[in-house]
Amino acid sequence: MSQDTYPPSADFVSKAHVSGMEAYQALYERAEKTPEDFWAELAEKELFWFRKWTHAFEWHPPFVKWFVGGTTNASYNCLDRHLATPRKDKLAIIWEGEPGDQRAITYQELHRLVCRFANVLKARGYKAGDRAIIYMPMIPELPVAMLACARLGIMHSVVFGGFSAEALKARIQDLDATAVITADGGWRRGKEVRLKDAVDEALVDCPGVRDVIVCRRTGSDVPMQEGRDLWWHELEQGVSDDCPAVELDAEHPLYALYTSGTTGRPKGILHTTGGYLLQTTMTMKWVFDLKDEDIYWCAADIGWVTGHSYIVYGPLSAGATSVIYEGAPDTPAWDRWWSMVEKYKVNILYTSPTAIRALLRQGDEWPNKHDLSSLRLLGSVGEPINPAAWEWYHRVVGKSRCPIVDTWWQTETGSILIAPMPGAVPLKPGSATLPMPGVIADIVDLDGKPARAGQEGYLIIRRPWPSMIRTIWGDPKRYEDQYWSRVPGAYFTGDAARRDEDGYFWVLGRVDDVMNVSGHRLSTMEVESALVKHPAVAEAAVVGKPDELTGQAVCAFVTLKGGGWDYDNLGSELRDWVGHEIGKFARPAEIRFTDALPKTRSGKIMRRLLREIVTTHSVTGDVTTLEDFTVVTKLSG
Ligand code: PRX
Repeated sequence: MSQDTYPPSADFVSKAHVSGMEAYQALYERAEKTPEDFWAELAEKELFWFRKWTHAFEWHPPFVKWFVGGTTNASYNCLDRHLATPRKDKLAIIWEGEPGDQRAITYQELHRLVCRFANVLKARGYKAGDRAIIYMPMIPELPVAMLACARLGIMHSVVFGGFSAEALKARIQDLDATAVITADGGWRRGKEVRLKDAVDEALVDCPGVRDVIVCRRTGSDVPMQEGRDLWWHELEQGVSDDCPAVELDAEHPLYALYTSGTTGRPKGILHTTGGYLLQTTMTMKWVFDLKDEDIYWCAADIGWVTGHSYIVYGPLSAGATSVIYEGAPDTPAWDRWWSMVEKYKVNILYTSPTAIRALLRQGDEWPNKHDLSSLRLLGSVGEPINPAAWEWYHRVVGKSRCPIVDTWWQTETGSILIAPMPGAVPLKPGSATLPMPGVIADIVDLDGKPARAGQEGYLIIRRPWPSMIRTIWGDPKRYEDQYWSRVPGAYFTGDAARRDEDGYFWVLGRVDDVMNVSGHRLSTMEVESALVKHPAVAEAAVVGKPDELTGQAVCAFVTLKGGGWDYDNLGSELRDWVGHEIGKFARPAEIRFTDALPKTRSGKIMRRLLREIVTTHSVTGDVTTLEDFTVVTKLSG
């Protein structure tokens, strides 16, 4: 193995759930050879079932069913089953609001809160099969709302609070949701993010929504529309503390989470109940080596898949104590996270390379002011982690004691698919290392031929896994085309990767028109569609530009209608416009005005050239299919 390899310490190995490489290999081989038995045994041992399944899975490509015939409930698994154990009085959630307010919620209390809110939903007539949008800040009522929906079989779709009214509207409409659960607002960098205002704006075009349930967080004034808007705390008056979890099919939809694809229209990734819950639970043990005494903190937002799987469903099903923080890492100062690690004695910290880079930039004095000795394991997700960020995370945050689990997965995969088991697999900075048991990952060319060691190709998964996407909401054809038609018989991830001589996976980034900005997926076409809606814009082409902090930044090339524009003002106007259409996080870092865009003779914008221009400031690739070559010279000048 190469020099830059970090084997686990003897101490870590001796206490780990999976100790040593041989133990990992044995698990992996068992799952590969006898997947039915492997998963069936785990499902039996790790989850509660009302009724046992008849067989572990049924695969009719590209559609899969897991734990066929079994009935269960995600909310029951995350709550009720712990109440008969000593975990009853264990903290499920340690929450801190940005202003400094705190809540500590035991499993028993969380069960009560979820039951009460489920009773509210029930009283309003919601039932299994209905769909609810959740648009909330990072407060305990967010997981409460999710688990209350799951309890009744209402499919939820959480919309990240950073999305605009327009983006919210598109999701409500695509899902035909009948309920919206929201809050007056939340706190971010000392300012109120006014969520209810965005809901009001979105709902002008969503006549199908019957109820808007509003949780009071900031206490600011919000207009309440008679007959539609209801206060959470008022609805809860007089409801019972008990609400039985509904017995649901293992394949009952749990949630749809929208993510960016290669078109302008986001896609609703559908996850179901039994398989999703099993694999998120297992990876809590395999990857985070979770022990009952751990304080675990996934510092992500619940609005993204990381928060669904590793703040809500995975940790609660596994019986973890999970820290949730509402606000920004720099409020009131850049040691907010470190002060929380010290205060709550956090053992496991999971975050994104972008966050690590932002913290690194502020200097070592911030973490060094605090006692971080409680940390025993660090995690990274969302994008490749660069050597400088890895080294800082390892040395300054982890004091060179803590393994770093670099976890590769996607909204579609539901749970972590490639990552080290920290008590078994030696680390190599920048590599997500080896696949989880049951995950048959490979690297191939577009003809499906396996790549040699060291050769770059497409990352694919050869077999269905329990927490896999089931379909794209309302569009099974797109599901099939997008994931199962590129490489016959295999799931196409859209990522490029290579495998080294030790079989380690190195994920290099997207091969499609999807950008990764701060670990968030954003489609170039989504931003382009937003830009061309502006009256001044004739055409727009968007590419990801390498960025030291955010991994990639949005760079837009824009042609305008007519002349005489005030370019300076228009640039910031267009940025805000994209913020309004999608959300602030999608605002282009750079807008370049141009007379024309480089196109093929058939009229397709050549993003490849634009990418080259923003990356290398010149064009060396093949330009023979260009409509107007002078365009390139002008753009790169
Ligand atoms: O390109 C890969 C990158 O993020 C994409 C998935 O994005 P999303 O669905 O938003 O989910 C992010 C959180 C799971 C992947 O296709 N990605 C994710 N994790 C890693 C990564 N790239 C490299 N290394 C990772 N650990």
